[in-house]
Amino acid sequence: MMERSAGTDRLISPRRRTEDLELEQSLRPARLSEYVGQAKVKENLGIYLAAALQRGEALDHVLLYGPPGLGKTTLANIIANELGVSLRVTSGPALERPGDLAAILTNLERRDVLFIDEIHRLNRTVEEILYPAMEDFALDIILGKGPGARSVRLDLSPFTLVGATTRAGLLTSPLRDRFGIVARFEFYRQEELAEIVTRAASILGIPIEPDGAVEIARRARGTPRVANRLLRRVRDYAQVKAEGAITAEVARAALHLMDVDQQGLDQTDRLLLRTIIEKFGGGPVGVETLAAATAEEVETIEDVYEPFLMQLGLLKRTPRGRTATRAAYAYFGLPAPGEGAGEQASLF
Ligand SMILES: Nc1ncnc2c1ncn2[C@@H]1O[C@H](COP(=O)(O)OP(=O)(O)OP(=O)(O)O)[C@@H](O)[C@H]1O
Ligand SMILES: [Mg+2]
Repeated sequence: MMERSAGTDRLISPRRRTEDLELEQSLRPARLSEYVGQAKVKENLGIYLAAALQRGEALDHVLLYGPPGLGKTTLANIIANELGVSLRVTSGPALERPGDLAAILTNLERRDVLFIDEIHRLNRTVEEILYPAMEDFALDIILGKGPGARSVRLDLSPFTLVGATTRAGLLTSPLRDRFGIVARFEFYRQEELAEIVTRAASILGIPIEPDGAVEIARRARGTPRVANRLLRRVRDYAQVKAEGAITAEVARAALHLMDVDQQGLDQTDRLLLRTIIEKFGGGPVGVETLAAATAEEVETIEDVYEPFLMQLGLLKRTPRGRTATRAAYAYFGLPAPGEGAGEQASLF
């Protein structure tokens, strides 16, 4: 969905550009062995893939969930590659009518992979087609209308559905329950991101020093997509302002210029935290109110910014809304409520 992608990319550019999309393609690892990080997901999936291949059966349906840019689409591609089958790609919002999905399903060949991105955005009537398709590899078609209507069952080839979502919580339980394999994506560790940056740099022919890769990894918000994007901007800087190679110093200077700080927080992260602290007394404040106050979209805040801010312990989600933690106050060099509250009032 475009809006969310735009939000994801806000870190550097307001829109997901073709340059980015092409780059993403070229940097996508094609095999499981090239896929960096997500050790648990990788190990389990490796076993299930091998078993399905040995039996010559379709792999069980797979649900991939986690924040944007962590490699869900990449992994869907890898699954099809490892199985040696075709991948058919669509998305929740693209499937408007049941017929759209039925057409795709009837065209799948044995053991093919159907990838539905943003599967939480499927509409109800389309989703209902999926239940028998996933469970019995069958399509129930209603012929006629009213009392004379009858249902005909059409067999489908056994296939694997790979669904991806940033919001597992928005999936209905009948749909969620039909996935035999559920993989939850975690933010990447710094060493893993450094490896991803180094790999990407070598594919793109960018000279980079190990310390330069670490500098970029440190500020990549645990997210490969962000790491790759920072790499490209740092490369531009290195080309114009330095000798071309990305050293730690060059990376630091370039990232400083981009307003990405030591921990990877950008202007929007800081705006969100400052707004909670300054306009709402540290919270709790509802996400809609926060969105209105910062001119961000609710979905962007929830999918892109919050998971990372929570991971850093700067923000908390409570039933009554979002609150800034003590660490958030400390980040801005402000006293948290309760510690020297007297002076705090005069600060704002
Ligand atoms: N494990 C990985 N190893 C190496 N590169 C990776 C890995 N995961 C992701 N990437 C890189 O990050 C980019 C973004 O990954 P991908 O498009 O798969 O994310 P996504 O989870 O599908 O995001 P979204 O939710 O926004 O669709 C890819 O182009 C790829 O280059
Ligand atoms: Mg994707």
